[in-house]
Amino acid sequence: MKRIGVLTSGGDAPGMNAAIRAVVRKSLHEGMEVYGINYGFAGLVAGDIRKLSRRDVGDMIQRGGTFLYSARYPQFATEEGQLKAIEQMKRFGIEGLVVIGGDGSYRGAYALTKHGFPCVGLPGTIDNDIPGTDYTIGFDTAINTVLEALDRIRDTATSHVRTFVIEVMGRDAGDIALWTGVASGAEQIIIPEKGFDITQVAENIREGREKGKKHTIIVLAEGVMNGHEFAEKLDAIDNFHVRVSTLGHVQRGGSPTARDRVLASQFGAKAVDLLKQGKGGLCLGIVKEEIIAHDIIDTLDNMKHTPNLDLYTLNEEISN
Ligand code: F6P
Repeated sequence: MKRIGVLTSGGDAPGMNAAIRAVVRKSLHEGMEVYGINYGFAGLVAGDIRKLSRRDVGDMIQRGGTFLYSARYPQFATEEGQLKAIEQMKRFGIEGLVVIGGDGSYRGAYALTKHGFPCVGLPGTIDNDIPGTDYTIGFDTAINTVLEALDRIRDTATSHVRTFVIEVMGRDAGDIALWTGVASGAEQIIIPEKGFDITQVAENIREGREKGKKHTIIVLAEGVMNGHEFAEKLDAIDNFHVRVSTLGHVQRGGSPTARDRVLASQFGAKAVDLLKQGKGGLCLGIVKEEIIAHDIIDTLDNMKHTPNLDLYTLNEEISN
């Protein structure tokens, strides 16, 4: 393969720029050309495509967001959109595609693979909810951003002897809540993968107060319900002086951590290696610290992401 394309799609994630940079630099190193596609699959269908040079990716490794822009484009689920995308790539002489994104982006790569077009998917989302990988690009940065916020909230929670419900992102997955809950020493973590009993949550707050705790931090994954709804349920039981903080899109921005930059660079280079050998229909993951490639169809059809629920048990054991 001599010419490949790269796009970012779905919700942006810190480290996407580092991944694009690695795709471009590794391709040039291997004597291949790279075309950048703006606005994900929407730009692909529209033909918003340009050649990328070494300089286009200079000063990019440390930047959050994605300089190729991103978009959610549900229309790509139609065969018409998929065939148009392939036609555009043929027009530009693009023989293989690197897709960086989350679940929806993988579905796009899956569809192109089914049409016989070689794609390699790189997991890029703060949610860490992609099957076949222990970590996604952006997750580490997002949890560090959340952690900083949680540490700050704990200061004020203690001063006022308050209970805080902090709603974090993650879509349907509890990874962000789990990791930041453990890392911040939160009293409780509420995630979609585990049920919760609001009377027990209230009881735990009371017990904490009796033991002399001056604050209660509850990290709530957005996939369970929103923070205000959760707080109302607690208020209906007792007055715990509950305050709610929804961290929102601050979790998606910012300069990527070293870990995300390294991971993105490894994924980007590996994708180029595979496409150079003519291998597509794949998605990459890091499993037990090793970068591996899975069949993308098998991954989406048969694999499921599960967060590390040992962290949940650990938190129950050490947080109260
Ligand atoms: O998938 C990343 C994510 O930030 C989720 O955690 C969140 O549910 C969603 O995207 C928000 O999407 P949008 O930016 O379109 O509001």
